[in-house]
Amino acid sequence: MTERYAVFGNPIKHSKSPQIHRDFAQATGQDLSYSALCVEPERFEIEVEAFLQGDGKGLNITVPFKQRAWAMCAQRSPAAERAGAVNTLYRDHNGELCGDNTDGIGLVQDLRNHGVKLAGARVLILGAGGAVRGVIEPLLAAGCASLTIANRTAARAEELARLFADLGSLQGCGYPELAATSFDLIINGTSASLQGELPPLQRSWVAPTTVCYDMMYSAQPTPFCAWAQDVGAGLVLDGLGMLVEQAAAAFLIWRGVAPQTAPVIADLREQLR
Ligand code: ATR
Repeated sequence: MTERYAVFGNPIKHSKSPQIHRDFAQATGQDLSYSALCVEPERFEIEVEAFLQGDGKGLNITVPFKQRAWAMCAQRSPAAERAGAVNTLYRDHNGELCGDNTDGIGLVQDLRNHGVKLAGARVLILGAGGAVRGVIEPLLAAGCASLTIANRTAARAEELARLFADLGSLQGCGYPELAATSFDLIINGTSASLQGELPPLQRSWVAPTTVCYDMMYSAQPTPFCAWAQDVGAGLVLDGLGMLVEQAAAAFLIWRGVAPQTAPVIADLREQLR
Protein backbone atom coordinates (compact mmCIF):
# COMPACT_ATOMS: atom_id res chain seq x y z
CA MET A 1 0.00 0.00 0.00
CA THR A 2 1.24 3.50 -0.82
CA GLU A 3 2.38 5.24 2.36
CA ARG A 4 1.53 8.90 2.78
CA TYR A 5 3.73 11.85 3.68
CA ALA A 6 3.14 15.60 3.57
CA VAL A 7 4.50 19.02 4.44
CA PHE A 8 2.37 21.31 6.63
CA GLY A 9 2.90 25.06 6.61
CA ASN A 10 1.19 28.38 5.93
CA PRO A 11 1.80 29.60 3.28
CA ILE A 12 2.80 26.43 1.42
CA LYS A 13 2.04 27.18 -2.24
CA HIS A 14 5.65 27.55 -3.32
CA SER A 15 6.98 24.54 -1.40
CA LYS A 16 9.39 22.40 -3.40
CA SER A 17 9.18 19.53 -0.91
CA PRO A 18 6.54 17.48 -2.82
CA GLN A 19 8.68 17.48 -5.95
CA ILE A 20 11.87 16.68 -4.03
CA HIS A 21 10.36 13.74 -2.14
CA ARG A 22 8.62 12.35 -5.24
CA ASP A 23 11.97 12.48 -7.05
CA PHE A 24 13.66 10.68 -4.13
CA ALA A 25 10.89 8.04 -4.08
CA GLN A 26 11.16 7.40 -7.78
CA ALA A 27 14.95 7.18 -7.72
CA THR A 28 15.00 4.77 -4.76
CA GLY A 29 11.97 2.70 -5.86
CA GLN A 30 9.91 3.59 -2.78
CA ASP A 31 6.12 3.47 -2.95
CA LEU A 32 4.96 6.68 -1.27
CA SER A 33 2.93 9.81 -1.88
CA TYR A 34 3.86 13.30 -0.68
CA SER A 35 1.56 16.33 -0.68
CA ALA A 36 1.59 19.89 0.65
CA LEU A 37 -1.13 21.18 2.95
CA CYS A 38 -1.79 24.77 3.94
CA VAL A 39 -2.90 24.48 7.56
CA GLU A 40 -5.04 27.07 9.35
CA PRO A 41 -3.16 28.19 12.48
CA GLU A 42 -5.92 27.15 14.90
CA ARG A 43 -6.03 23.63 13.38
CA PHE A 44 -2.32 22.71 13.36
CA GLU A 45 -2.27 20.15 16.21
CA ILE A 46 -5.59 18.61 15.13
CA GLU A 47 -4.36 18.19 11.54
CA VAL A 48 -1.07 16.61 12.65
CA GLU A 49 -2.87 14.09 14.86
CA ALA A 50 -5.40 13.28 12.14
CA PHE A 51 -2.72 12.75 9.48
CA LEU A 52 -0.50 10.54 11.63
CA GLN A 53 -3.39 8.52 13.04
CA GLY A 54 -4.57 7.55 9.58
CA ASP A 55 -2.24 6.09 6.95
CA GLY A 56 0.08 9.11 7.17
CA LYS A 57 3.61 7.96 8.03
CA GLY A 58 5.52 11.20 8.33
CA LEU A 59 5.31 14.98 8.11
CA ASN A 60 7.60 17.84 7.33
CA ILE A 61 6.74 21.02 9.19
CA THR A 62 7.62 24.47 7.96
CA VAL A 63 6.99 28.12 8.80
CA PRO A 64 5.28 29.07 11.11
CA PHE A 65 4.68 25.75 12.88
CA LYS A 66 8.13 24.33 13.77
CA GLN A 67 7.96 25.40 17.43
CA ARG A 68 4.44 24.05 17.84
CA ALA A 69 5.53 20.74 16.30
CA TRP A 70 8.37 20.64 18.86
CA ALA A 71 5.91 21.12 21.70
CA MET A 72 3.75 18.19 20.51
CA CYS A 73 6.58 15.61 20.52
CA ALA A 74 7.02 12.90 23.17
CA GLN A 75 10.55 12.20 21.85
CA ARG A 76 13.01 14.59 20.20
CA SER A 77 16.45 14.14 18.63
CA PRO A 78 19.26 16.08 20.34
CA ALA A 79 19.36 18.54 17.40
CA ALA A 80 15.61 19.19 17.64
CA GLU A 81 15.69 19.41 21.42
CA ARG A 82 18.31 22.16 21.31
CA ALA A 83 16.82 24.00 18.36
CA GLY A 84 13.40 24.25 20.00
CA ALA A 85 12.02 23.51 16.53
CA VAL A 86 11.00 20.36 14.66
CA ASN A 87 10.78 19.98 10.86
CA THR A 88 10.33 16.18 10.67
CA LEU A 89 7.62 14.18 12.46
CA TYR A 90 6.88 10.44 12.62
CA ARG A 91 5.62 7.82 15.06
CA ASP A 92 7.90 5.22 16.64
CA HIS A 93 6.98 1.54 17.16
CA ASN A 94 5.08 2.43 20.34
CA GLY A 95 3.04 5.05 18.52
CA GLU A 96 4.80 7.94 20.26
CA LEU A 97 5.19 11.16 18.30
CA CYS A 98 8.89 11.77 17.49
CA GLY A 99 10.48 14.94 16.16
CA ASP A 100 13.75 15.75 14.47
CA ASN A 101 15.29 18.87 12.97
CA THR A 102 17.20 18.18 9.75
CA ASP A 103 17.84 21.83 8.76
CA GLY A 104 21.31 21.88 10.34
CA ILE A 105 22.32 18.50 8.90
CA GLY A 106 21.12 19.83 5.53
CA LEU A 107 23.36 22.89 5.79
CA VAL A 108 26.41 20.92 6.96
CA GLN A 109 25.94 18.30 4.21
CA ASP A 110 25.58 20.95 1.50
CA LEU A 111 28.75 22.64 2.72
CA ARG A 112 30.52 19.24 2.61
CA ASN A 113 29.22 18.65 -0.93
CA HIS A 114 31.08 21.80 -1.92
CA GLY A 115 34.27 20.76 -0.15
CA VAL A 116 33.97 23.36 2.61
CA LYS A 117 36.09 22.37 5.61
CA LEU A 118 34.25 22.96 8.88
CA ALA A 119 36.79 21.46 11.29
CA GLY A 120 38.73 24.38 12.77
CA ALA A 121 36.73 27.00 10.84
CA ARG A 122 35.97 30.45 12.27
CA VAL A 123 32.29 30.95 11.48
CA LEU A 124 30.11 34.07 11.50
CA ILE A 125 26.33 33.66 11.48
CA LEU A 126 24.12 36.63 10.69
CA GLY A 127 20.71 36.53 12.38
CA ALA A 128 19.34 34.91 15.52
CA GLY A 129 15.86 33.73 14.53
CA GLY A 130 14.35 30.30 14.04
CA ALA A 131 16.44 29.51 10.97
CA VAL A 132 19.69 30.04 12.88
CA ARG A 133 18.66 28.10 16.00
CA GLY A 134 18.44 24.89 13.98
CA VAL A 135 21.97 25.04 12.57
CA ILE A 136 24.12 25.92 15.60
CA GLU A 137 24.39 22.46 17.13
CA PRO A 138 25.30 20.66 13.85
CA LEU A 139 27.89 23.33 12.96
CA LEU A 140 29.57 22.99 16.34
CA ALA A 141 29.35 19.18 16.11
CA ALA A 142 31.18 19.42 12.76
CA GLY A 143 34.15 20.90 14.61
CA CYS A 144 34.01 24.66 13.99
CA ALA A 145 36.72 26.38 16.05
CA SER A 146 34.54 29.36 16.87
CA LEU A 147 31.05 30.55 16.11
CA THR A 148 30.04 34.20 16.29
CA ILE A 149 26.36 35.11 16.07
CA ALA A 150 25.64 38.70 15.06
CA ASN A 151 22.13 40.10 15.06
CA ARG A 152 20.29 43.42 14.60
CA THR A 153 18.80 42.85 18.05
CA ALA A 154 21.99 42.01 19.97
CA ALA A 155 20.13 40.52 22.95
CA ARG A 156 18.73 37.68 20.79
CA ALA A 157 22.25 36.76 19.61
CA GLU A 158 23.58 36.87 23.17
CA GLU A 159 20.74 34.65 24.35
CA LEU A 160 21.43 32.07 21.63
CA ALA A 161 25.14 32.05 22.49
CA ARG A 162 24.27 31.38 26.14
CA LEU A 163 21.85 28.60 25.20
CA PHE A 164 24.50 26.64 23.26
CA ALA A 165 27.54 27.72 25.35
CA ASP A 166 28.26 24.21 26.67
CA LEU A 167 28.75 22.88 23.12
CA GLY A 168 31.67 25.02 21.97
CA SER A 169 33.25 28.44 21.59
CA LEU A 170 30.34 30.80 20.95
CA GLN A 171 29.72 34.50 21.18
CA GLY A 172 26.71 36.65 20.42
CA CYS A 173 26.68 40.38 19.66
CA GLY A 174 25.19 43.22 17.62
CA TYR A 175 26.69 44.24 14.25
CA PRO A 176 28.53 47.34 15.58
CA GLU A 177 30.42 45.20 18.14
CA LEU A 178 31.90 42.87 15.52
CA ALA A 179 35.65 43.17 15.08
CA ALA A 180 36.92 43.97 11.59
CA THR A 181 38.57 40.56 11.22
CA SER A 182 37.90 38.01 8.51
CA PHE A 183 36.06 34.69 8.86
CA ASP A 184 36.42 31.34 7.08
CA LEU A 185 32.67 30.98 6.64
CA ILE A 186 29.86 33.57 6.79
CA ILE A 187 26.28 32.29 6.86
CA ASN A 188 23.34 34.61 6.26
CA GLY A 189 20.44 33.32 8.36
CA THR A 190 18.48 36.59 8.41
CA SER A 191 15.21 37.12 6.58
CA ALA A 192 16.37 40.60 5.50
CA SER A 193 16.37 39.73 1.79
CA LEU A 194 12.60 39.05 1.94
CA GLN A 195 12.28 42.82 2.29
CA GLY A 196 15.03 43.36 -0.29
CA GLU A 197 17.39 44.45 2.49
CA LEU A 198 20.76 43.39 3.83
CA PRO A 199 22.23 43.39 7.34
CA PRO A 200 25.03 45.97 7.74
CA LEU A 201 27.79 43.90 6.13
CA GLN A 202 31.48 44.71 6.37
CA ARG A 203 34.01 44.05 3.63
CA SER A 204 36.68 43.30 6.22
CA TRP A 205 34.93 40.02 7.18
CA VAL A 206 35.74 38.58 3.76
CA ALA A 207 39.17 37.24 2.79
CA PRO A 208 39.89 35.69 -0.64
CA THR A 209 39.34 32.24 0.92
CA THR A 210 36.11 33.09 2.74
CA VAL A 211 33.02 31.00 1.95
CA CYS A 212 29.73 32.96 1.99
CA TYR A 213 26.48 30.99 2.33
CA ASP A 214 22.94 32.35 2.13
CA MET A 215 20.32 30.08 3.69
CA MET A 216 17.83 31.62 1.24
CA TYR A 217 17.87 30.98 -2.51
CA SER A 218 16.41 32.51 -5.64
CA ALA A 219 16.75 32.43 -9.42
CA GLN A 220 18.97 35.51 -9.39
CA PRO A 221 21.79 35.76 -6.83
CA THR A 222 20.28 36.80 -3.48
CA PRO A 223 21.31 40.28 -2.24
CA PHE A 224 23.74 38.60 0.18
CA CYS A 225 25.28 36.40 -2.53
CA ALA A 226 25.62 39.41 -4.85
CA TRP A 227 27.42 41.33 -2.10
CA ALA A 228 29.73 38.37 -1.38
CA GLN A 229 30.65 38.07 -5.06
CA ASP A 230 31.24 41.79 -5.18
CA VAL A 231 33.70 41.83 -2.28
CA GLY A 232 35.62 38.83 -3.63
CA ALA A 233 34.60 35.88 -1.47
CA GLY A 234 36.32 32.62 -2.44
CA LEU A 235 33.08 30.64 -2.77
CA VAL A 236 29.48 31.89 -2.77
CA LEU A 237 26.57 29.49 -2.22
CA ASP A 238 22.83 29.84 -1.76
CA GLY A 239 20.45 27.60 0.20
CA LEU A 240 19.01 25.43 -2.59
CA GLY A 241 21.36 22.56 -1.71
CA MET A 242 20.46 22.88 1.98
CA LEU A 243 16.77 22.55 1.07
CA VAL A 244 17.36 19.29 -0.79
CA GLU A 245 19.78 17.92 1.83
CA GLN A 246 17.38 18.56 4.73
CA ALA A 247 14.73 16.70 2.72
CA ALA A 248 17.13 13.80 2.11
CA ALA A 249 17.85 13.58 5.85
CA ALA A 250 14.09 13.42 6.56
CA PHE A 251 13.66 10.76 3.84
CA LEU A 252 16.41 8.69 5.49
CA ILE A 253 14.70 8.96 8.90
CA TRP A 254 11.34 7.85 7.48
CA ARG A 255 12.40 5.26 4.90
CA GLY A 256 15.84 4.08 6.03
CA VAL A 257 17.22 4.88 2.56
CA ALA A 258 19.60 7.75 1.71
CA PRO A 259 18.61 9.19 -1.69
CA GLN A 260 21.12 10.76 -4.07
CA THR A 261 20.77 14.53 -3.88
CA ALA A 262 22.98 15.89 -6.67
CA PRO A 263 20.54 15.14 -9.55
CA VAL A 264 17.62 16.68 -7.63
CA ILE A 265 19.60 19.82 -6.81
CA ALA A 266 20.62 20.13 -10.48
CA ASP A 267 16.99 19.72 -11.65
CA LEU A 268 15.70 22.37 -9.25
CA ARG A 269 18.46 24.77 -10.25
CA GLU A 270 17.57 24.27 -13.89
CA GLN A 271 13.87 24.96 -13.17
CA LEU A 272 14.76 28.19 -11.35
CA ARG A 273 16.40 29.57 -14.48
P1 ATR B 1 13.31 32.95 10.85
O1 ATR B 1 12.50 31.89 11.55
O2 ATR B 1 13.15 32.94 9.34
O3 ATR B 1 14.73 32.99 11.27
P2 ATR B 1 12.74 35.21 12.55
O4 ATR B 1 12.73 34.37 13.77
O5 ATR B 1 11.69 36.28 12.39
O6 ATR B 1 12.58 34.33 11.24
O7 ATR B 1 14.19 35.84 12.39
C1 ATR B 1 14.52 36.71 11.36
C2 ATR B 1 15.98 37.13 11.55
O8 ATR B 1 16.37 38.02 10.49
C3 ATR B 1 16.25 37.87 12.84
O9 ATR B 1 17.55 37.57 13.27
C4 ATR B 1 16.11 39.33 12.41
O10 ATR B 1 16.77 40.24 13.25
P3 ATR B 1 16.03 40.74 14.62
O11 ATR B 1 16.16 39.62 15.61
O12 ATR B 1 16.79 41.96 15.03
O13 ATR B 1 14.60 41.03 14.24
C5 ATR B 1 16.79 39.26 11.08
N1 ATR B 1 16.40 40.38 10.17
C6 ATR B 1 15.21 40.54 9.55
N2 ATR B 1 15.22 41.65 8.78
C7 ATR B 1 16.46 42.21 8.93
C8 ATR B 1 17.11 43.37 8.38
N3 ATR B 1 16.47 44.19 7.53
N4 ATR B 1 18.38 43.62 8.74
C9 ATR B 1 19.03 42.79 9.60
N5 ATR B 1 18.48 41.68 10.15
C10 ATR B 1 17.21 41.39 9.82
